[in-house]
Amino acid sequence: METVIVNMRDGIEEAGMRRAGEILRRGGLVAFPTETVYGLGADALDEEAAGKIYQAKGRPSDNPLIVHIADWDAIEKIAVDIPPEAKLLSDAFWPGPLTMILKRSDAVPLATTGGLDTVAVRLPNHEIARALIRAGGGYVAAPSANTSGRPSPTKAEHVVRDMDGVIDMIIDGGDVRIGIESTIVDLTEGAPTILRPGYVSREMLEKVLGRVEIDRALLAEDENIRPKAPGMRYRHYAPKAPLVIVEGPAQRVRERINALSEENAADGRVTGVIGTDESQGYYRNALVKSIGSRADERSIARHLYGILREFDDSEVSVIYSESFDTPQMGQAIMNRLIKAAGHQIIDVNE
Ligand code: TXA
Ligand code: MG
Repeated sequence: METVIVNMRDGIEEAGMRRAGEILRRGGLVAFPTETVYGLGADALDEEAAGKIYQAKGRPSDNPLIVHIADWDAIEKIAVDIPPEAKLLSDAFWPGPLTMILKRSDAVPLATTGGLDTVAVRLPNHEIARALIRAGGGYVAAPSANTSGRPSPTKAEHVVRDMDGVIDMIIDGGDVRIGIESTIVDLTEGAPTILRPGYVSREMLEKVLGRVEIDRALLAEDENIRPKAPGMRYRHYAPKAPLVIVEGPAQRVRERINALSEENAADGRVTGVIGTDESQGYYRNALVKSIGSRADERSIARHLYGILREFDDSEVSVIYSESFDTPQMGQAIMNRLIKAAGHQIIDVNE
């Protein structure tokens, strides 16, 4: 299949957008930017189209998709028994990086929800995404536009790398603003519960809803507790080289990483280091990449997936990363980083 790549970095291009809408209405696949990561879209109400997403990504078919809408009113067609909390969250965070789990209406095929009676809904804060949703009929199922097992795409180049020749169209809207997938909150059972941490933190949700729970599988050290969001159960992206997080006071972290890099260099092995704008000058004997500035946690979130992809294109035999427990997004960032590291952490406090 030939994949058409349309450049909309400088704004929406009408002819390209019409064509993208037609592709979706005919049951095809279009990758598009959102504020979080690039999505791989299909008509959410078309069983066959949704099925194509799983094929293109190589994704297990019991892992449900998020349905993207462009207006609050669209929610009534796809969800039933919508609780008042949904409207409160919409008023506070939509359009934005928040996904709500609600009860599914019969309009949504089980292919879209991975067989579940619930449906995930999000109204993204991105002009191109909303224009595409409208052009495509109002309901776009979209997971992140990466091959299953790769980091989520934060630039069109990442999507091209994974999906060229496999899908109908890629809309290039430049780099995403946030870089980490949306916060998922379940409103179908008991107290509102976070199933996946993201830009919208627990504190931000609690200001609107009062008490909010966190799926205990996200906090547990015990890997046998099953997360409620099916996608959080799968083994996630692991870089080609082993990734190890080094945690503790900044100075000791740097010293430990330098000592490890020196040992590796003596053995003729190249070490990769994920540092920050503030720390990168301290590292020796390594291929050092800055993930962003500790003074701006959003820069750290934005560069996380891209940096992991870059290391896969280099010849490092191990990667050491600092830990990024930043105030608002720290939980979301570390959730992804710890998974990528397969829980390998060196604690230099001891
Ligand atoms: O920011 C985002 O959410 C991006 C952009 C494209 O919108 N999308 C995204 O989709 O991250 P994906 O498919 O990579 O992740 C969706 C997550 C999975 O962990 C899935 O299991 C969970 O949402 N999910 C979807 N529907 C669900 C449901 N009904 N109940 C529980 N979890 C659900
Ligand atoms: Mg994903």
